[in-house]
Amino acid sequence: MRVAVIGAGYVGVVTAAGFAEFGNEVVCIDKIPDKVIMLGKGEIPFYEPGLKELVGKNLKEGRLVFSEGSFQAVKESLVIFIAVGTPPRGDGSADLSYVEEVAKEIAENLDEYKVVVTKSTVPVGTSLRIKEIIETHKNNSTHFDVASNPEFLREGSAVYDFMHPDRIVIGAESDAAKAILRDLYRPLYLRETPFVFTDLRTSELIKYASNSFLAMKISFINEIANLCDALRADVHVVAKGMGLDGRIGPKFLHPGPGFGGSCFPKDTMALSKMAKEAGYNFQLVDATIQVNKDQMERAVEKICQASGGKLKKAKIALLGLSFKPNTDDIRESPALYIAQRLIEEGCQLRVFDPAAMDNARMVLGDRCSYCKDSYEAAYKAQVMVVATEWNQFRNLNLARVKETMEGDNLVDLRNIYDPRRAQKLGFRYWGMGRR
Ligand SMILES: NC(=O)c1ccc[n+]([C@@H]2O[C@H](COP(=O)([O-])OP(=O)(O)OC[C@H]3O[C@@H](n4cnc5c(N)ncnc54)[C@H](O)[C@@H]3O)[C@@H](O)[C@H]2O)c1
Repeated sequence: MRVAVIGAGYVGVVTAAGFAEFGNEVVCIDKIPDKVIMLGKGEIPFYEPGLKELVGKNLKEGRLVFSEGSFQAVKESLVIFIAVGTPPRGDGSADLSYVEEVAKEIAENLDEYKVVVTKSTVPVGTSLRIKEIIETHKNNSTHFDVASNPEFLREGSAVYDFMHPDRIVIGAESDAAKAILRDLYRPLYLRETPFVFTDLRTSELIKYASNSFLAMKISFINEIANLCDALRADVHVVAKGMGLDGRIGPKFLHPGPGFGGSCFPKDTMALSKMAKEAGYNFQLVDATIQVNKDQMERAVEKICQASGGKLKKAKIALLGLSFKPNTDDIRESPALYIAQRLIEEGCQLRVFDPAAMDNARMVLGDRCSYCKDSYEAAYKAQVMVVATEWNQFRNLNLARVKETMEGDNLVDLRNIYDPRRAQKLGFRYWGMGRR
C-alpha cells in the first residue's frame, strides 16, 4: 500500500518507518528542509533507541523516502496520516493550526479516493472539522474518508511500541476506511493485537482519557509519597501492596518530581478545557494538573532543605535534564523546571544528561555549567540531585561521587538508590516518601 505521513517528528518518523517495515511504500513529509535532508541520509534529528536502524534499513531497501512537499505524496498515496504537532495554546486548549494547514494542503492535491487519518492527538470533533476543511477546499468532486487512529507510543521505546502496541484504536465512519486501515495494520492483526473500532469522536476521546488516567495515577502516587514523608511510611512498599491488586496494577506507581514530556501536561490541560467547553467541570483532571505543578515545587523545596535551607550560592549537581530516560526530549521536563528554579534562586549549578545537553543548553544558556559526566558534575557539590532515572545513574560509583563532592547530601527525586547503602557510604539521603 502507498502511505504518506505528514509531520516528521517523534510520531511521524516512527509511524513512517514502521509502516515501511511492514512492506508498504511510505513517504514522510516535513516542512523543515534541513530535517528532510538529514532524515534522507538516515540521520535522526532526535534521540530514539532503534529508530536509526529501522529508518536506515527501509531507506536502503527503497520503501521509505522523506520529502519536503506534500503535492506528489498526497496524489500517490491511498492513506494519508496527519502527524503534526498539536501544542498547547495559552489557555490550555490544543493549537490545531498545523493540522488545519495540512488538511488544506491535502484538499488542494486530492485527485482520487483517499483515507485521511489523524494520528496527532486532537480534541473531540477535530476529524469532522478536517472533513469539513477538505470538503471546502477541494477543487473537484473526489470522494474521501476521514479516520482517527490515535498514537500511544512512548518516547524512549517508540519503535518497540509501534511493533508491539497494547491496542490499535480506529475511529471511522465508513466500512471502506475501516477495511483499508485493518489491511494496513494486518501484520499486527495476525499477532492478535486487540483492535478497537469505533466512531471518530469516541476514538479521539480514548487518547485523552488514556493519557489523563496515567497522569492521574502519577499524581496519585506522588501525593501518597508526600503523605509517606509526613507519616514516616515507605511509598515503595505502599505501591507494591497496591500494585499487586490486579484491579490497580503496578505500572505508573513510581513517585518522582512530577510528570512531563510533550503529552501528559498538554493532554490533561486540553481535556480539562474540552470538558469545560462542553459544560462539564472535570475535577479529577484539574486536580491532577495542580498536584503536578505543586510536586515540581516540592522537589525544589526538598533540595533547599538538603542544602540547609538556603539555595543562594549553593553548589548543586543535577543529574538528568530530559523528561524521562532514553530520550533527549526536554519538553515540560520536571528536571529542566528544577534546573531553571535553582538558577533563579542563585545556585551554582553543574548539570549532566546523557542525551539532552544540547537541547537544555538552548533553554538554560550559560547560566549553569555543562559537564561531561556525572562525576564532573558532582565535583565540589554540596548537594547532588538525581532528577531523571537514566540507567547509568543507577549504576554510578557512589563512593567516587562522595569523594568528589564537598558536601554529603544526595537528593534522589526518582528513588533509584537504596537509602541504607547511600547512608553507609556517608550520604545524607533525601528520597521521595521513603523512611
Ligand atoms: N511524542 C510523543 O511521544 C507522542 C505520542 C503520542 C502522540 N503524540 C501526538 O502526536 C503529534 C505529533 O507529536 P510529535 O511529538 O511527533 O511532534 P513533533 O513536534 O516532534 O513533530 C511534528 C512535526 O510536524 C512538522 N510539521 C508541522 N506542520 C507541518 C506541515 N504543514 N507540513 C509538514 N510538516 C509539518 C514539524 O516541522 C515537526 O517536524 C502530537 O499531536 C502529539 O500530541 C505524541
